[in-house]
Amino acid sequence: MNDFIKTTKLTSDAEIENSLRPTALDDYIGQESVKEGLKIYMQAAKQRGEALDHVLLYGPPGLGKTTLSHIIAGEMGCQLKVTSGPAIEHAADLAAILTNLQRNDVLFIDEIHRLNHSVEEILYPAMEDFSLDFIVGKGPSARNMRLKLQPFTLVGATTKSGAISAPLRDRFGIIHRLELYEEADLVKILKRSSGILDVNIEEDAIGEIARRSRGTPRIANRLLKRVRDYAEVKNGGLVTLDIARDALRLMDVDDKGLDFVDRRLLDKIITVFKGGPVGVETLATAIGEEVSTVEDVYEPYLIRLGYIARTPRGRVALEGAYRHLGLEYTEPKDKADTQTE
Ligand code: ADE
Repeated sequence: MNDFIKTTKLTSDAEIENSLRPTALDDYIGQESVKEGLKIYMQAAKQRGEALDHVLLYGPPGLGKTTLSHIIAGEMGCQLKVTSGPAIEHAADLAAILTNLQRNDVLFIDEIHRLNHSVEEILYPAMEDFSLDFIVGKGPSARNMRLKLQPFTLVGATTKSGAISAPLRDRFGIIHRLELYEEADLVKILKRSSGILDVNIEEDAIGEIARRSRGTPRIANRLLKRVRDYAEVKNGGLVTLDIARDALRLMDVDDKGLDFVDRRLLDKIITVFKGGPVGVETLATAIGEEVSTVEDVYEPYLIRLGYIARTPRGRVALEGAYRHLGLEYTEPKDKADTQTE
């Protein structure tokens, strides 16, 4: 048993995910305008010997916000510290993190919209002047103290830019929205990942996985790993188009990349709410998901497919959704119901 522990390198999915992360900006596929901007700002900051200005990245999950923070730290030749909004409970937790940063380090705060107010207030002077303001003592003898911090770059990531307070948002000098990926870029990402994981996969199988990955590299890589498992058990490791299709069927991922939750969401809007409009809270309750999961995880891709629309009066199903589920489309009585927000 001990020998097993000593000699066997166990590889978890998380470790595999890390091994698939590009570490240089030139290896990062897609998001061209984000890359173009970051490349220039990083070069300028390096030439001046300064920390890169603070960066806010927002967009749906799985598009590479964490990966970009690793790349920024790597390209700037600095250390990366990773934390998240919910992990920083008290102002003192953040103060401890900030005082341990070295010159020009990168601090990545995932889900930055979930920072509580007292923690956020510590962040303002830290971002603006690289200083930590705190009060010593109580009552009439209380005094404001200011501690100098090393210059650093805060990279904040969020799935909902609207949930960030204006004062916090205003302190980011660089703000980028990450978009769902084009199929061609997912093909490139899957080819790169197949090479790293040594997967024997045919070209049309890669295209099939890319098409069903909801514009999201994390999903593409996850599907690739499961398709690889399937091929290893059923086909000596070779991933052909048929093997990929069979594996995806086993995962209940349909030809557009939708899973049973997506289909249930569409089905509820159409059959229970007569095509909508239906409020997102009502819809989330009907399918047993959190509102934020519906908004951040499911809707962006369904909107991109043109299956649903967000209107001022709620969510509506569009013609494509009916066709996808094999249902007959009936025009809404009120045309205004399909006008998007
Ligand atoms: N793996 C995950 N996201 C990636 C990206 N944007 N480029 C290359 N590899 C990736």
